[in-house]
Amino acid sequence: MTSFWSWYVVILTTFTLVALVWLVLATRKGQHSDTTDQTVGHVYDGIEEYDNPLPRWWFMLYIGTVVFSVGYLVLYPGMGNWKGILPGYDGGWTSAKQWEREVARADEKYGPIFAKYASMSIQDVAADEDAQKMGSRLFANHCAICHGSDAKGSPGFPNLTDKDWRWGGDADTIMTTILHGRTGVMPAWGEVIGEDGVKNVSAYVRGELAGLPLTDADSFDLEHGKQVFAQTCVACHGPDGTGMAVLGSPDLTSPGGWIYGQSLTQIQQTVRYGRTGVMPPQQEFLGNDKVHLLAAYVYGLSRD
Ligand code: HEC
Ligand code: HEC
Repeated sequence: MTSFWSWYVVILTTFTLVALVWLVLATRKGQHSDTTDQTVGHVYDGIEEYDNPLPRWWFMLYIGTVVFSVGYLVLYPGMGNWKGILPGYDGGWTSAKQWEREVARADEKYGPIFAKYASMSIQDVAADEDAQKMGSRLFANHCAICHGSDAKGSPGFPNLTDKDWRWGGDADTIMTTILHGRTGVMPAWGEVIGEDGVKNVSAYVRGELAGLPLTDADSFDLEHGKQVFAQTCVACHGPDGTGMAVLGSPDLTSPGGWIYGQSLTQIQQTVRYGRTGVMPPQQEFLGNDKVHLLAAYVYGLSRD
């Protein structure tokens, strides 16, 4: 800020504060000190104003806010180029400096703990009660928004507490998933296999592979569905439909692990238009040590 604008702000702020104090004192002067039945004489639309003193609590609150403002303007930046004298912030307080200080303090306090767990195997960390508590807090902050606070998932986001894994549930794979993220791509097949193909293969997936009840089974050609599956789907879901971890293609014989729904309509939607599930990478944001702790937490969830 140039010194002109700095002085402009200082003078304007000081003037406003003084004027506010003057206003309340001036209106208070000459008032009765106790409640009367007299009015001040103005009438507006039949409404009259009593000539009563300002309530004491209100007056004190008003003065209190002025005192607070003065204190604030001394400690923090606000008066033009004045940086404030809050101790511990070299060259004045800023929210960025406060954040850096808090991060540095947290690193100092928790860094050695994270480092200790980082040097242990994921299995050992998963068996450590304190580590699991820290893991659950990290999970609540960074993962629960998608996977749910109980890690049981929601439509579009996998349950992390069961035995169904899209990418794999061993310690190293979980670590890789969280560090680098994953993108599961189920292509859209509507144009390729046509509407009959979509309906028949979806019925085949629901009724035969997943073993779920199929109403109106007669209206589908399951034999055709099986052929479509063999031609189009086995490449990724495998000949027996149990999925492939390298592609993140789910086991179609275990509907409990599906994330896009088990109804025939939902399966048809998936086959017709495709799906792309994205697990965002965490390495850059959280760093290896925190991800290690989280991997151990997730690893522990499905093993109780
Ligand atoms: C190129 C590989 C590939 C092919 C071919 C493929 N899929 Fe998929 N499929 C996937 C992947 C990967 C996912 C997981 C998508 C995600 O996580 O968002 C998936 C998901 C699904 C799902 C959803 C499961 C859930 O979690 O709700 C169904 C159902 C499905 N596929 C059926 C089929 C059928 C039927 C065919 C054949 C017409 C087929 N897929 C062909 C890769 C493939
Ligand atoms: C923006 C939403 C989102 C956030 C945040 C998120 N995830 Fe995910 N995660 C997903 C989705 C979507 C998938 C499924 C990807 C796919 O379709 O294959 C997934 C998959 C996973 C998997 C693989 C599951 C399997 O079956 O193989 C693990 C493990 C996982 N997430 C852990 C975490 C952890 C730990 C965090 C917190 C650091 C986290 N996720 C944060 C959306 C999210």
